[in-house]
Amino acid sequence: MFSLAVLVSGSGSNLQSIIDAIASGYLNAKISIVIADRECYALERAEKSGINTLLLKRSIYKDELSSAILEAVGNVDLIVLCGYLSILQGNIIKKYNHKIINIHPALLPNFGGKGMYGIKVHEAVLAAGEKISGPTVHYVDEKTDHGPIIKQKSVPVLPGDTPKVLQERVLTCEHEILVEVIKELSEKAKDTFDKEN
Ligand code: GRF
Repeated sequence: MFSLAVLVSGSGSNLQSIIDAIASGYLNAKISIVIADRECYALERAEKSGINTLLLKRSIYKDELSSAILEAVGNVDLIVLCGYLSILQGNIIKKYNHKIINIHPALLPNFGGKGMYGIKVHEAVLAAGEKISGPTVHYVDEKTDHGPIIKQKSVPVLPGDTPKVLQERVLTCEHEILVEVIKELSEKAKDTFDKEN
């Protein structure tokens, strides 16, 4: 079965959308492990669903964090970053080339990069007077919010939107697009496997 490692730092609503999509049968996949870089509600969500969890604190692992994650994930089919706030580097990027995806709450390449996370993204979108925003799912490379884009969806920016209101609207869309991409990637991997065997 298509196996996932999910990396989290926050509330874990995207993680929950994956858990729910598996439970409903929409996704034919298994979450092998959820890894957090800090104490967060996402870990509780995983534990409640009986998923194996691991806390690898950035504050303790520092430069060794990526190697510790690489060791902990073992061999999975896909690593999914859902609101994960540490930067992956080194061997994990090489071994999992095109097998690590991230969800970002704006239409990359705009409103991404270092320091562009959480509510700051939506503040920047509103400050720029954008009429459209929306989530991006992309492959992860060594640079922040930089790898090839897999899928984006548009969400309107409405008159009177506050950053919080816009964040909620985009987040709802994130939950849809993330499981769609994981489904597409798992089906592609199955096709490749079937052709080769
Ligand atoms: C999401 O907006 C995601 O795009 C960003 O961080 C937020 C995480 O939300 N990278 P959650 O922890 O999945 O609720």
